[in-house]
Amino acid sequence: MRGMRWTSPLVTVAALAGLFALPAHAITTVSAHGDAGQEGTAPSVPAAAEAAPPAAATYVGSDTCTTCHDTVETQLASTPHGSATFGKLAPHGCEACHGPGSVHADDPDTVATQPRVDKMPPEVVSATCQSCHSGRAQFFWQGSKHEKRGLTCTTCHTVHSPKSDDAQLQRETVAEQCATCHQQVRAETWKSSHHPIREGKITCTDCHNPHGTQSEQMVKADTVNDLCYSCHTEKRGPFLWEHAPVRESCMNCHTPHGSNHAKLQKVAVPYLCQQCHANTRHPGTLYDDRNLPIAESGLPVPSTPSNRLIERGCVNCHAAVHGSNHPSSPYLAH
Ligand code: HEC
Ligand code: HEC
Ligand code: HEC
Ligand code: HEC
Ligand code: HEC
Ligand code: HEC
Ligand code: HEC
Ligand code: HEC
Ligand code: HEC
Ligand code: HEC
Repeated sequence: MRGMRWTSPLVTVAALAGLFALPAHAITTVSAHGDAGQEGTAPSVPAAAEAAPPAAATYVGSDTCTTCHDTVETQLASTPHGSATFGKLAPHGCEACHGPGSVHADDPDTVATQPRVDKMPPEVVSATCQSCHSGRAQFFWQGSKHEKRGLTCTTCHTVHSPKSDDAQLQRETVAEQCATCHQQVRAETWKSSHHPIREGKITCTDCHNPHGTQSEQMVKADTVNDLCYSCHTEKRGPFLWEHAPVRESCMNCHTPHGSNHAKLQKVAVPYLCQQCHANTRHPGTLYDDRNLPIAESGLPVPSTPSNRLIERGCVNCHAAVHGSNHPSSPYLAH
């Protein structure tokens, strides 16, 4: 099935054939999208070599398109799709993405035959773009959460009117682009402790590949821990005294985007620790007011609260909570 990810240009041609009524001789591959014409607006042909359509569109070449769409040409020239590299990969120019346009060029006012990419089904757009962009960062697009949920390349990218400095996005920054849908994550970045995303020091794509990954949650590393180590290298160890939950997953205690507890903690210390260290005696002691020194007023005495509750709580003493290399620190003190 891996081979399926390498969408060949021929699949794209066949895909477009369904939509834009390619001549049969141009079709050399039968495609999964061959019947997409049902959803399209142009008369459709089966994606097989037999039936030649009555009004088949043919390629007219970019020069014909730009006689009418000259501003598009000027604008495109300043983007990667106006480059010589693109020209070499795409002898059909405009029509590499828009499909063969003779029917439209002959009769431009008929709305139904205008070769609008934004009216194509998402899988046809993806296949078109992936005829060139199927390797590198886009390798795992097929089967990714975004692909499965009906997004396509042009959900985030625009070919003709990019707002970002890089990567032809529809919004100025990556974080804004993602926030068009992920409002919840955006809200988390406004909590008191947060990764410096809105300060512009890191962004969503430092940690995620929105085109899909082999790992869970589109994280750009084999595991969450490997991702965290890539910036927080000192947490990798090795440690003489390991703390088991750290090795298992940083997410046992932290949340990635933002938290109202210090240092991106999911829950505040001591409760964070006591989720696991729930045994009686020292670590599991409940810190309700019966365990706090009580003044005659009936209120806890502010000057002498438990040293496990103030400041960094358990971490006052167990400062090496991520692991320790001190020979005499099995209890992760330093
Ligand atoms: C004879 C002039 C002419 C030629 C040649 C021509 N177009 Fe058009 N095109 C038009 C007109 C007129 C419209 C509809 C009005 C408009 O631009 O808003 C249009 C509309 C379009 C649209 C839809 C615009 C939208 O607002 O969504 C696309 C896409 C398009 N053309 C692409 C092409 C491509 C690709 C080619 C070459 C294969 C081409 N055109 C050739 C005149 C032309
Ligand atoms: C015929 C081949 C081809 C097709 C089809 C194609 N591209 Fe590209 N694309 C290129 C080339 C070549 C570059 C420049 C790559 C480079 O310089 O490394 C490029 C660059 C890009 C970039 C990077 C821009 C940047 O600033 O780094 C984006 C994003 C992109 N394409 C999106 C798309 C989308 C979306 C589609 C489908 C609507 C698409 N491409 C279809 C060939 C193609
Ligand atoms: C959910 C939004 C989203 C979707 C959907 C999406 N992209 Fe992207 N793409 C991005 C972002 C954000 C970047 C910038 C990556 C970075 O900053 O590292 C990017 C970068 C790129 C680049 C340039 C650099 C690179 O990583 O190679 C290309 C080419 C590209 N995308 C092509 C595509 C294609 C083709 C598709 C459809 C198969 C697609 N994208 C779908 C958001 C998206
Ligand atoms: C790399 C793929 C690609 C190439 C090459 C391309 N287009 Fe487009 N075109 C698109 C997409 C995708 C859209 C939808 C709007 C967007 O994403 O910018 C579009 C939209 C348009 C529109 C609608 C109006 C607009 O600006 O949004 C016109 C007209 C158009 N293209 C004409 C052309 C012409 C003429 C050429 C050749 C000079 C061309 N396109 C080359 C992908 C492409
Ligand atoms: C058009 C809406 C849309 C945009 C824009 C968008 N996403 Fe998503 N994203 C989704 C949907 C829908 C899901 C699936 C949610 C679910 O199933 O709960 C998703 C899921 C995810 C997931 C979880 C993946 C998993 O495997 O569970 C991550 C991570 C993600 N998106 C990151 C990003 C990033 C980073 C960007 C910006 C580059 C982005 N998204 C832009 C709609 C979007
Ligand atoms: C420091 C790294 C990092 C940054 C930056 C980051 N994420 Fe995440 N994100 C993660 C990790 C790790 C997970 C998986 C959490 C888990 O396994 O519980 C995740 C999970 C997600 C999820 C799925 C679960 C959820 O929380 O909804 C979405 C959606 C998501 N991120 C979107 C984004 C967006 C959008 C941005 C930019 C605003 C972003 N992320 C920035 C590391 C990061
Ligand atoms: C792309 C680099 C990068 C990655 C990957 C990364 N971080 Fe960070 N992290 C940062 C930066 C930058 C800061 C802010 C440091 C500063 O302000 O001094 C930070 C701060 C933190 C903080 C302290 C927050 C605070 O309020 O002071 C914690 C906790 C943290 N990261 C945990 C994680 C975890 C867990 C992961 C893995 C999901 C992770 N980081 C992945 C760059 C990264
Ligand atoms: C057992 C719970 C726990 C786990 C698991 C955990 N942390 Fe922490 N982390 C904490 C606590 C508690 C603090 C606050 C320490 C303090 O107050 O000094 C913290 C603070 C941090 C900080 C900011 C202060 C500093 O020490 O640099 C970073 C960065 C960090 N953790 C990264 C990680 C990474 C990366 C992982 C996974 C390898 C991880 N943490 C796993 C509990 C944990
Ligand atoms: C997700 C569960 C989990 C969380 C949360 C957690 N721990 Fe642990 N901790 C463990 C496990 C498992 C061990 C190893 C116990 C063993 O080897 O018997 C351990 C070991 C320890 C040890 C070494 C003592 C020993 O018996 O080896 C100390 C000290 C410790 N934890 C303190 C903390 C502190 C402080 C926090 C809060 C910042 C915390 N732990 C949060 C699971 C957790
Ligand atoms: C005043 C310093 C101090 C504070 C605060 C503190 N500890 Fe300890 N902790 C110690 C010392 C010292 C030991 C070693 C005890 C021994 O030698 O028996 C220890 C041992 C432990 C152990 C291993 C032995 C056992 O009883 O299982 C765990 C787990 C532990 N602490 C967790 C916690 C947690 C959870 C908190 C916060 C609720 C906490 N500690 C707060 C000093 C402290």
